[in-house]
Amino acid sequence: MPTALITGGTSGIGAAFAGGLAERGHDLVLVARNAERLEAAAAELSRRHRVAVEVLPADLAVRDDVLKVAARLADTDSPIDLLVNNAGYGLHVTLLDEDVDAHARAIDVMCLAVLILGGAAGRAMKQRGRGQIINVASLAAYMAQGGYSPIKAYVLTYSEGLANELHGTGVSVTVVNPGWVRTEFHERAGIRTSAIPDFIWVEPDRLVRETLADADKRRVVSVPTKRWKLQKLLARHAPRSAVRWASRMLSRSRQ
Ligand SMILES: NC(=O)c1ccc[n+]([C@@H]2O[C@H](COP(=O)([O-])OP(=O)(O)OC[C@H]3O[C@@H](n4cnc5c(N)ncnc54)[C@H](OP(=O)(O)O)[C@@H]3O)[C@@H](O)[C@H]2O)c1
Repeated sequence: MPTALITGGTSGIGAAFAGGLAERGHDLVLVARNAERLEAAAAELSRRHRVAVEVLPADLAVRDDVLKVAARLADTDSPIDLLVNNAGYGLHVTLLDEDVDAHARAIDVMCLAVLILGGAAGRAMKQRGRGQIINVASLAAYMAQGGYSPIKAYVLTYSEGLANELHGTGVSVTVVNPGWVRTEFHERAGIRTSAIPDFIWVEPDRLVRETLADADKRRVVSVPTKRWKLQKLLARHAPRSAVRWASRMLSRSRQ
């Protein structure tokens, strides 16, 4: 059975990837900080889908923990066929805050860990001549929202670079750019969502179905759903002053 490693596999988009990949017959390795929640997710997934689920508690803001996950990706006895670099969160801080620790942590989790784990998976998969890497960026990558947009822009551009370095090796890289998805993300980041109409939201399972279909086709950039494709088109082709205005409006939903 192929095995997938998913960071942030206990909640929201990562949990939906875990469910979707288990449904496809993948054994799983779940990575997150909360060990109790990891155990509960593993028990439920193996009961429901009859797959083997390993848990790997790790804080991806801590370098030694990231290296532990990288070592699991490099393990040749029990190879990982698919990596989903998904763990992440919205930032509470603004670019004007004097204390940059929260920014540094977010860069560690959403940029450096993605780089280290993508490299570890890419090297191991390249040697075997096959594998898939899926990185979760955001439509925010095309916007100008505080520290989050530059972080997700990094994930987007990094993924295209990694896809180039792995081109022709049998290893594919897909970066997915979601818009608003119903998860714990907004509550954790203190983002008000009460004013956001229902039709804006996409369920995590749908995002995962469409992303996996794009990854199967070896698409490098995946923008699921028509509404997100339209949003990307507008963000890419509207004047940057309009994109900055829209970003200011969106940032008002922060508490
Ligand atoms: N929801 C959206 O609208 C949306 C839109 C675009 C992009 N995204 C991106 O989608 C990804 C998943 O977000 P989500 O919406 O599914 O959020 P979520 O429901 O809050 O899930 C986040 C997951 O990441 C894990 N995590 C957070 N910090 C971690 C750390 N330092 N080390 C290890 N694991 C960590 C969490 O587990 P623990 O707390 O136990 O560590 C949890 O499993 C993120 O990269 C986010 O930026 C989300």
